[in-house]
Amino acid sequence: MTLEEYIKKKQQNLKEIGIDNSLQEIRYILHEKLGLNLEEQIFNKDIVLENKQLIKLENVFKERVKGKPLSKIFNKSYFRDINLIVNKHTFSPRIDSEVLIDILIKENIRIKNILELGTGTGALSISLLKHYKTANSIVTDISKEAIYIAKKNAILNSTVNQMQFICCDWLNCFVNLNFDILISNPPYIKSSEISSLDLEVKDHDPIRSLDGGVDGLYAYKKILRSIKKIGKKKLPVLFEIGFNQAEQVKEIMKSNGLKNIKVFNDYCNLPRCILGET
Ligand SMILES: C[S@@+](CC[C@H](N)C(=O)[O-])C[C@H]1O[C@@H](n2cnc3c(N)ncnc32)[C@H](O)[C@@H]1O
Repeated sequence: MTLEEYIKKKQQNLKEIGIDNSLQEIRYILHEKLGLNLEEQIFNKDIVLENKQLIKLENVFKERVKGKPLSKIFNKSYFRDINLIVNKHTFSPRIDSEVLIDILIKENIRIKNILELGTGTGALSISLLKHYKTANSIVTDISKEAIYIAKKNAILNSTVNQMQFICCDWLNCFVNLNFDILISNPPYIKSSEISSLDLEVKDHDPIRSLDGGVDGLYAYKKILRSIKKIGKKKLPVLFEIGFNQAEQVKEIMKSNGLKNIKVFNDYCNLPRCILGET
């Protein structure tokens, strides 16, 4: 079978199971498994694939059609301009979260000592620290496996010297901390909605990275109550939120004393981030 025929066949297979960007995915798989870059794939479309190449590719497609996302097949992902290791213990960073970084840059918020709660792969902090070279970040997660991967990613992206890694349940283990901005993309899906998520999310992102409790708002309430107790003044707090949660999170922020609350839309024009100040 020629490369062109193979691509067509696989594109059809992936489309049938509802994968929209099937061609892009196939091109990525061909690059990862056979080392063929885009140019080679386009200009060598008549090459005949060898059996051992087909076997290598089939092993990937077998997993993909069962719903495993490419990030979890290859244990890698990308966020803005950084490469990241991911595994079954980590949430695969989403392009949706990139807006959170853009907001911090555009709003001209002073970024020096960051506290990031629920860091997963470390994507948000690492990305920020690449931009703010003199800043530091304390990153936390309840999952020690995620913290291990976040540290590996920090080493991979040369930000490890700017970071501290703490396994902790939100703000529970902190007494005195030096930070001047808090960011978080916490779990925000209602528990009852988890079972209806796409297979690639519900079966491949850790449940605790998704489950936001009965109303999806558990983490926001917990974090903001603790922030109120800490009593830091003029602390910017920036959260990613579900597209339909802006009003509710705004209320939780207000009831915990936050002011100057602003909601930001993502690039699909959905309200996906909220910023407030203690
Ligand atoms: C939606 S994921 C976001 C991960 C990462 N910040 C990102 O944007 O790619 C939420 C993260 O919160 C972590 N988490 C869940 N419950 C937590 C808790 N009680 N304390 C700290 N982190 C928690 C999860 O392990 C997961 O890594």
